[in-house]
Amino acid sequence: MDDKCQARTWFVEDKPSSRVSDCRDRFPIFERLTYVNSCSQGALSDAVRDAYLDYLDGWDERGAPWDYWVERSEAARAAFAGLVNGAADDVAVTTSLSAGVSALASAVDFRDRPKVVVSDFEFPTIGQIWHAQEARGAEVVHVPADRNEIPLERFEAAIDERTAVVSIAAVCYRNGSRLPVEEIARIAHERGALVVLDAYQAAGTYPLGVEALGVDVLAAGVLKYLLASAGLGFMWLRPGLAERLSPTQTGWFADRNIFEMDIHDYSPSPTARRFQSGTPPIPAIYAGIAGIELMQEIGIAETREHVSALNERLIAGVDELGGVVVTPRDPERRGALICVRSTDAPALVAALAADGIVTSERDGNLRVSAHAYNNEDDIDAVLAALSRHPDLLSTDPTFYKTH
Ligand SMILES: Cc1ncc(COP(=O)(O)O)c(C=O)c1O
Repeated sequence: MDDKCQARTWFVEDKPSSRVSDCRDRFPIFERLTYVNSCSQGALSDAVRDAYLDYLDGWDERGAPWDYWVERSEAARAAFAGLVNGAADDVAVTTSLSAGVSALASAVDFRDRPKVVVSDFEFPTIGQIWHAQEARGAEVVHVPADRNEIPLERFEAAIDERTAVVSIAAVCYRNGSRLPVEEIARIAHERGALVVLDAYQAAGTYPLGVEALGVDVLAAGVLKYLLASAGLGFMWLRPGLAERLSPTQTGWFADRNIFEMDIHDYSPSPTARRFQSGTPPIPAIYAGIAGIELMQEIGIAETREHVSALNERLIAGVDELGGVVVTPRDPERRGALICVRSTDAPALVAALAADGIVTSERDGNLRVSAHAYNNEDDIDAVLAALSRHPDLLSTDPTFYKTH
């Protein structure tokens, strides 16, 4: 931990945000790098490293402790449920967000309602999964963006009585914009459509309550702001919904009784587990539980406050440099990710990396994503580096790429 951070922690010890300030030294990467790339991958903590060692020790000491591993898988289900304020039976433990949503898509009947409405802010996997359903009769409609927002009227116009599913992202991975999920869900439900929320860029950055959001399905993964690693995702379904859907993309861990070992029928679990597939990703589950527990210990609401303040500093600094922030200015309309327009985003990421600053880029934008472990020094380091590469910062305020 740097001296400044230590001093700050000392003085704010009694405030809730002290858990946020205190957490930095649990992530050794900060001894070497300025890491502001949590929209891609969260930093490795001592807790997640220990969880992997724990998995290896158990494997080595006990051989094949499957009872315990299955119990860990149930613990992950409960952790996910807690994260979205739902019940464990309504959660499928998946190997990625794509695996869950793809199993869900395989269960949708498009005969009476062929339309799938997707927003322009989706991650590629969402568009690809729904377009793959065209072979089964789906008609995919894209709701176009207007710069960094998608006006609600465009969802009003796209969603109708022929719509089976409205598939939206909580936060866009390439511009940081946050969609008005509750309002879109209200429109979809008025017209009888299901709402599927990709909450990957939101999970761990602000509290997610499925009831308040009003969605029917929420899917996410753990490797970004939930501080864990690749190989684990989850999908929550509104209570009672799973039983009405029969996925054809399935496997034995989706069966009513996993240990029945019956090859003569398909009898899926009555719970959301019916959207699972094969052997659960046990190592990733150890890490996932540790990551979620650590994030909850740090405090997700407190992290939101902390990151919002850092992002205000970042935006003000980019403004001063004459750069273009493409993420919405209104803190209520953005996630944790801030995107800055570049003249050559891969070159800018490489230039920052040469200065020991880890970022990423998408769609011509530099992505800077602060999390609980970042501090003002990190933001100032990014701004100082940007000031050394003015040619790589776009200064054209009219430029805005939309799809
Ligand atoms: C918004 C969003 N959705 C989905 C994904 C990918 O999910 P998965 O690889 O677990 O299917 C990502 C990750 O990069 C993402 O940012």
